[in-house]
Amino acid sequence: MDEEIVQELIINAFEARTKSYCKYSGFAVGAALLTDEDKIFRGCNVENASYGATICAERCAVLKAVSEGSTSFKAIAIVGGPKNAAELTDYAYPCGMCRQVLSEFEGPDMTVIVAKSIDDRKIFTLAQLLPEAFSSESLS
Ligand code: THU
Repeated sequence: MDEEIVQELIINAFEARTKSYCKYSGFAVGAALLTDEDKIFRGCNVENASYGATICAERCAVLKAVSEGSTSFKAIAIVGGPKNAAELTDYAYPCGMCRQVLSEFEGPDMTVIVAKSIDDRKIFTLAQLLPEAFSSESLS
């Protein structure tokens, strides 16, 4: 994946993280999703008093993209950590539910970037993070 695009996605994920609504966990997550048409959709986690109705940052970005007509994705960058942390000390990996939702719309070899900063990141394919996924083919 092109270095410039990786950096742009990480910057967008950090920007999305500033919008996180995380008054219950205090854990702010941002995501930036790159579509096959090279559009970037941002998402943040949106928590709820019921806890269970919380939407993760990744699924927020996916829902924004799909509802605007983009249904195939090349890459996503994810950043997360305590809301007021000056620097991120850990990578924020996508939860199982988000991995499954991403797999519904993944283009070939979709890239997943988890980052602590622009330079400190790890890059995976979605297939590495969700091998043997349940999919529409499983239903046929
Ligand atoms: N969270 C995400 O936004 N993405 C994930 O993949 C894992 C968890 C959010 C949900 C909740 O608002 C907070 O992180 C703590 O779990």
